[in-house]
Amino acid sequence: MTSVFYRQPKHRYPCVTRGEGVYLYDADGRRYLDGSGGAAVSALGHNHPRVLAAMRAQLERCAFAHTAFFTSEPQEQLASMLARRFPETGARSYFVSGGSEANEAAIKLARQYWMARGAGKKRLFVSREQSYHGNTLGALALSGNPGRRQLFAPLLMDWPKVLPCYEYRHRRARESAAKYGRRAAGSLLEAIREHGAENIAGFVAETIVGATLGVVPAVAGYWREIADICRRHRILLILDEVMAGCGRSGTYFAFEQEQVVPDIVTVAKGLGGGYQPIGAVIARADIVDTVVDEFGHFSHGHTYVGHPTACAAAVAVGQVIDDDGLLENVRSMGALLRERLAAALCDHPHVGDIRGRGLFVGIELVTDRATNGAPRAELGLPQRLRDDAMRHGLICYPGGGSADGQNGAHILLAPPFIYSSDNVDELVMRLGRVLDGLRLG
Ligand SMILES: Cc1ncc(COP(=O)(O)O)c(C=O)c1O
Repeated sequence: MTSVFYRQPKHRYPCVTRGEGVYLYDADGRRYLDGSGGAAVSALGHNHPRVLAAMRAQLERCAFAHTAFFTSEPQEQLASMLARRFPETGARSYFVSGGSEANEAAIKLARQYWMARGAGKKRLFVSREQSYHGNTLGALALSGNPGRRQLFAPLLMDWPKVLPCYEYRHRRARESAAKYGRRAAGSLLEAIREHGAENIAGFVAETIVGATLGVVPAVAGYWREIADICRRHRILLILDEVMAGCGRSGTYFAFEQEQVVPDIVTVAKGLGGGYQPIGAVIARADIVDTVVDEFGHFSHGHTYVGHPTACAAAVAVGQVIDDDGLLENVRSMGALLRERLAAALCDHPHVGDIRGRGLFVGIELVTDRATNGAPRAELGLPQRLRDDAMRHGLICYPGGGSADGQNGAHILLAPPFIYSSDNVDELVMRLGRVLDGLRLG
């Protein structure tokens, strides 16, 4: 009898005992190919010696010191590294322990920024339907994810939601991608007309929608349109790259491929690659300066903000990405993965779409390809697929509700950046076996 309150208390979980590169092993000696880094976390795979050494060195120097009293070398190094990667000079980073915390902090920073500028009416955060920004109440209020919101709806701030940019299901027949992008972005304009730009502090969105839709990048031009709308209406553009950032899409930030620069970007998962829980809010210099000039400080904080060992792990992850040329590997292995998946699954009756950027890939499942029908929620497909994949020695990340918030299903793949072409082939082979058995009558 266990004393653990599991995610799914009735489910029996194998006990993980070891991780090595792209593989995880359980207590029965079974080996699993990591095809999704859990939920897009394990950017460098498991037990990377350089990250372990950096953590060990920091643990031996000083595991933790509270940021009310000290800064630390790893925190300074990590902030410099992110400032170098951010396209505009002088960006500042605030380190937290995960994605939800990062988005909470981003909301508060944006609010405090507008207060500092004498625009205290700006209090609403517009976000998109079919999105996920975290499970704390503020981040959940941002999230347009009906399944995760349902029980808590009465506790959540009622902030406006606009349409996502979801070409596969929302682009009309004979509508060009460019026209569709403008229509999707126009949904933000409608919200601004309804609620008033003077009341809106920020627009929060995932640059590439991750777990809710199954890896959906926007059509070309959409983000430029959105950035323009935000600038014209004095609304901060806050991009959530908790999943898509830190190299996963093939560039360090996913927005680099969209020719926009957000005012604030949040990152987490790949930042520490799972070696430590860490997330960051990265903000343009003038946002931080405005807040500090007016208030003297950012009115926020948690005990583990700027945790030295977490920062040391993240610095090491970032160094390995650079030293081993892993962004290039993400681009080439990502292209290979999509190519091999397309070849292997082109005739599969239930594969409707394969999409993504870099090593961030989504496969949308349909009841039949003629109608792109969405698998019904009652089928419990995500859990079935997860269990089946594990039986076939594969970790992937299936999700549901992609089509309309309730129905629909997809599989999210987010393999470690160290994947080789053999690993890609093994992933496609194992996933093929899982999908071979899939029948949606
Ligand atoms: C885009 C996005 N934002 C925020 C979060 C929340 O991050 P965390 O689970 O680390 O709190 C997630 C988690 O999956 C995410 O995918």
